[in-house]
Amino acid sequence: MNIRLFKIEDLVDAQALNLQNIPENYSLRFWTYCLLTWPTVSFVAENSQGKLVGYVLSSVEGGMKRPIRPPRHGLIDSLSVSKRYRRGGVATRLMEKSYEAMADLGIAYVELSVRAGNVGAQTLYDRLGYQYERTVPRYYQNGEDAFIMRRPNENYPPPKAPVIRKSTTPVVKALTTPGFREKVLATIREEKPTNGNAQGRAAGT
Ligand SMILES: CC(C)(COP(=O)(O)OP(=O)(O)OC[C@H]1O[C@@H](n2cnc3c(N)ncnc32)[C@H](O)[C@@H]1OP(=O)(O)O)[C@@H](O)C(=O)NCCC(=O)NCCS
Repeated sequence: MNIRLFKIEDLVDAQALNLQNIPENYSLRFWTYCLLTWPTVSFVAENSQGKLVGYVLSSVEGGMKRPIRPPRHGLIDSLSVSKRYRRGGVATRLMEKSYEAMADLGIAYVELSVRAGNVGAQTLYDRLGYQYERTVPRYYQNGEDAFIMRRPNENYPPPKAPVIRKSTTPVVKALTTPGFREKVLATIREEKPTNGNAQGRAAGT
């Protein structure tokens, strides 16, 4: 099974798969908007013949305003795997790729909605680290409730680059000078211990 980026050319096949599996569908306009606006976060799965057998459509919200409030977050908009290929880890791989791609964009968390009655998908999301957030009553056209689930980005906020203070520059320079380490070790070896502890410290370096 090959997992690769979702391209505009995949739209028709992906939508056909969606129509087979999910009662409601986004407009082609929305799919196109997601793929053109966030081209790095949606993926497809194709079998050995190159046939599309699964996809995840994702997007990113909240990043256009300054200051960013609420924090920029990712959304899983749609996920589907062809019946023949289910329970083989395809959705897991698609979801992980999308999560990693959105984490690379610096999102705080990824959110999704799932039908209250879709226990299979809920189990999948639970296994992937998504936690129940809240219920939206009658969210779907047939009146079914939605569960909102969320997976935090463990690396948010992104770590800051280490700050090297000016005063440490001479030390860094000395430590990286060729022969400096040997010189220090030789000095330590020559030093006569004044008490038992000093001997211990020198031996430990
Ligand atoms: C939900 C769906 C995407 C799962 O795809 P998949 O490729 O079969 O999922 P995975 O093989 O990665 O499943 C990983 C784990 O999730 C859980 N899981 C997945 N489908 C499940 C199901 N129908 N019932 C119970 N648990 C399920 C299992 O724990 C599974 O591990 P296991 O097979 O070792 O027991 C697929 O069934 C599907 O396309 N359904 C129709 C569309 C849909 O419901 N999309 C989600 C809308 S929110």
